[in-house]
Amino acid sequence: MGCYSPIFDRMLEILGKKLRTSNVQSQRTASAQSTEEAPIAVSLVDIFFKAKELERKGFDVIHFDAGEPDFEPPKEVVDATIKALRDGRGRYAESGGIPLARKALAENLNRKYSASILPDQILLTAGGRLALYYAFMSLPKKTKVGIFSPDWPAYRDISNFLELPIQFFKTSLEGGWNVDPDEVRKSDCGALVLNYPNNPTGKILDLRTFEELVGIANNKDMTIISDEVYSDYLLDSSKKSKSILETDSPKNIFVTSMSKSYAMTGFRAAYIVSDASTISRLIKINSMIITSMPEFVQYAMIAALDCQEYVKEKRDLIRKRRDAAAKALKKYLDAEFYLSDGSMYMFPRLHTRKEGTKFNSEKFALELLDKEKVSVTPGTSFGKPFIDHVRITLLQDEKRIDEGIERMSRILN
Ligand SMILES: Cc1ncc(COP(=O)(O)O)c(C=O)c1O
Repeated sequence: MGCYSPIFDRMLEILGKKLRTSNVQSQRTASAQSTEEAPIAVSLVDIFFKAKELERKGFDVIHFDAGEPDFEPPKEVVDATIKALRDGRGRYAESGGIPLARKALAENLNRKYSASILPDQILLTAGGRLALYYAFMSLPKKTKVGIFSPDWPAYRDISNFLELPIQFFKTSLEGGWNVDPDEVRKSDCGALVLNYPNNPTGKILDLRTFEELVGIANNKDMTIISDEVYSDYLLDSSKKSKSILETDSPKNIFVTSMSKSYAMTGFRAAYIVSDASTISRLIKINSMIITSMPEFVQYAMIAALDCQEYVKEKRDLIRKRRDAAAKALKKYLDAEFYLSDGSMYMFPRLHTRKEGTKFNSEKFALELLDKEKVSVTPGTSFGKPFIDHVRITLLQDEKRIDEGIERMSRILN
């Protein structure tokens, strides 16, 4: 396929249009914010930067906000990065990834999932977000995207940016965050996003539901985009989950990243797996956008694959923190929650103690940060209906988690 593929044209068309309208939109937002009735819209990013600013002023902030590990990457990863740089590996590289890295990743996935992935089915790129953007970009124009909600906001943002219509399938705490495959069966979605273990709920899909969804997708010729960035944080070992790579549907798209498993958030190291022809199209886009992943980062990724003891240690650590959070949520807040099967989050529902008032997670998050210096993400960041939930990250030690939740109780009135 030549350089100017339809996907390429589409990208330029969308980018041009978005840039032209962005000024008008920001003016509209500014005027809306100036009126009293304007809804409060407090995002994860707002809270995160406000928390950082408070810290710069010398306040002791307990961070329950961004999903960024509080531990360092494995020593082997740092050593491999430095060695690669010393060896002159700071050059342009192949747009799909250096052959050594694609081969190492393929072998690792084949071992882990008993799969038979070939190196040319893998594209290395700069972070999970970009990988997901490419995955959505590969869908035909106007494909309707099915998203289980609550949902990590990037899926909505990318779909909206690419003008892909969305159908949300709402799940609930009462329903154990279970999904209803029938809703997907009845829909006219051309793509379905899976994100298990889930951000924010911590849910994993049981095997039966997973198989049913895969069957529906196959029958309806639906592409599954499976974001498995939290697959190493499976906290409940009695529960079994499956990767999309363990199914027999090569056209699905698997996305993962080294950010969470190896605390490599700033390395921007991620990869996509799909059929070779989709990957070949995406390599052209990667080539246009970033040329290639930094070569030394790819050596760091190879080194990370040998750090499975580290991953196990961190999983055990997060499990202990999850249990500490669960205990504190009951003790101080009398909160309702689902004990996360996986991921690095808890997504409790909170209540005010004042009769006749409803809990508003946006107001709460602002007041909590302001008065008690604890940063949480309002539930609305993951969908409007989740106004009575907050997301808490498990990325502080147990004592800090306990203290943070105790501080939360001080302003729940
Ligand atoms: C569900 C999910 N997918 C993907 C990512 C992307 O991570 P990164 O861009 O750091 O690779 C994140 C980050 O928070 C996430 O929560």
